[in-house]
Parts: sequence; structure tokens; C-alpha cells
Amino acid sequence: MERITIKTAQEIELMREACRVTATILDEVGEIIRPGMSTEEINSFVHRRTVELGAIPSPLNYKGFPKSVCVSPNDVICHGIPAPFVILKEGDIVNIDVTSFKNGFHGDSSRMFFVGGEAACTPEARELVYATREALMVGIREVRPGKRVGDIGAAIQQFIKETKRGYGIVKEYTGHGLGREFHEAPQVVHVGKRGTGDALKPGMTFTIEPMINAGSAKTALSKVDGWTVRTADGSLSAQWEHTVLVTDAGHEIMTQSPKGLF
Ligand code: MF3
Ligand code: CO
Ligand code: CO
Repeated sequence: MERITIKTAQEIELMREACRVTATILDEVGEIIRPGMSTEEINSFVHRRTVELGAIPSPLNYKGFPKSVCVSPNDVICHGIPAPFVILKEGDIVNIDVTSFKNGFHGDSSRMFFVGGEAACTPEARELVYATREALMVGIREVRPGKRVGDIGAAIQQFIKETKRGYGIVKEYTGHGLGREFHEAPQVVHVGKRGTGDALKPGMTFTIEPMINAGSAKTALSKVDGWTVRTADGSLSAQWEHTVLVTDAGHEIMTQSPKGLF
């Protein structure tokens, strides 16, 4: 197994800037997203703002990914490819996943947006979106020295079970260490067993990014583009993601919204 890198105080300072770019762009996406917009327009916006903020969009050309941001509406779980023919409509829920590379480091975060406003979306969609955000926060609350990676997944799994909504937790895609690499050790699975997995130590940086389906946890990878991951049963899916640092005292959310939005 690949070793988990421990970032120095200096490296963390550099990485904070990449994370701040990511969070700033997500704040801005919230201001421009509207019904009738194509996901290609979201891509153009994210690409332009990333460059203006002195960063590079990490997804572009990553393992052949053709765009600068992942845009995943409704039953798309993750890795949706922006396209001019994908039009966001009132009542859609959509995940926007931004990763910026600056100072030699990556910052990775994603949020859900209600297209046309929260009131335009069904109660089922709203409930899924908020439960998934809470699942992320429940996972983040586990992060401190002395805890293990498995504690994060266990807490998320327990929380989702307690909602008694029959939601499915996606297992095939996970959180991940990041820093100088987009994806590095450890793998952060969103289910698990307490007291298992790598021990959390100050200076570790990784994402937590639960993907929760309103129906079955089963996923289907698009045979057309080889990237888009959908729910196998066509049910809605939600995801929220933060980059987190393990500190002596506990944790720091590195991709916190500068405007206090998330
Ligand atoms: N940002 C995604 C994650 O959270 C990864 C996207 S990989 C891409 O890990 F190639 F699709 F961009
Ligand atoms: Co991401
Ligand atoms: Co990620």
C-alpha cells in the first residue's frame, strides 16, 4: 500500500490557497447557476475563474477527462461531463465538483445546487440533498488524531441508516488523500467499521465525499462516454465534498466557503 503523506506547515499554507480558489469558485457558481443554462456554460465559467485566480483546473485531461469540472445532475452520481446539450432545468438537483491546482497542490470540493431555487425542487430531492450534506459533516466530525479512517465511514453509514429512508451509499467511488497528487492514499470509503483502517495523524489531508442514492446503491458507468456514473435504478443521487486537514486539535475544513455558504 502507498504511504499517506504528512504535509509540513509550509505545504499546508500553500495547499490552503488551492482550497480557497476551489471554495471561491463554488460560491460564485451558486450566484450564476440558473434554469436554461447548459452544463457547458458551467464548465466555461469554472475554467475561466480558475485561470483568473491563478490556478489550473485539475480535472482537465486527468486520465483523459475532457472538461474542467464535473457536473452531475439528478440521477448522475459523479463524473458528469459538461456538454452544450445538457440543459439544467427548474427543479433539477445538480452536483458541481471543482478541483483547483495551485502552488503545486490540489483543493477538491463539491456542493449540490437546487436549479431554480429550493422551492422548485421536490421534498424528496431536498431531503436527499440535506441528508447527504449532514452525512459529510458527520464524517468530518470524526476527524482527529487517534481516530481511524474506518471511523469516518462507520459514522456516515450509521447516520444514513438512522434516516430510515432506505438510501443507498455508493461504494465504488470514495474520498481520497490529496495534496501534490489529485488522488493519493488513503482511500476514504463512506461505509466502514469503527477502529479499522489507517490511523489519522496531524498533517494528513484527504477528502470526504459521500454519494447517497435515493434508491439502490448500485451504479452504472456510461458505455457512451466511459465517465458518467448513474444510479442503476434511475433514482436521484446527491454528493457533497470537502478537503479536510487533520490538526493536533482535530481538523480543519480547508475548502470552507469564504462567504460562509458551506
Ligand atoms: N473531483 C473528483 C473527486 O472528488 C474527481 C474527478 S476526476 C475527473 O475525486 F477526471 F472526473 F475529473
Ligand atoms: Co471532487
Ligand atoms: Co475528491
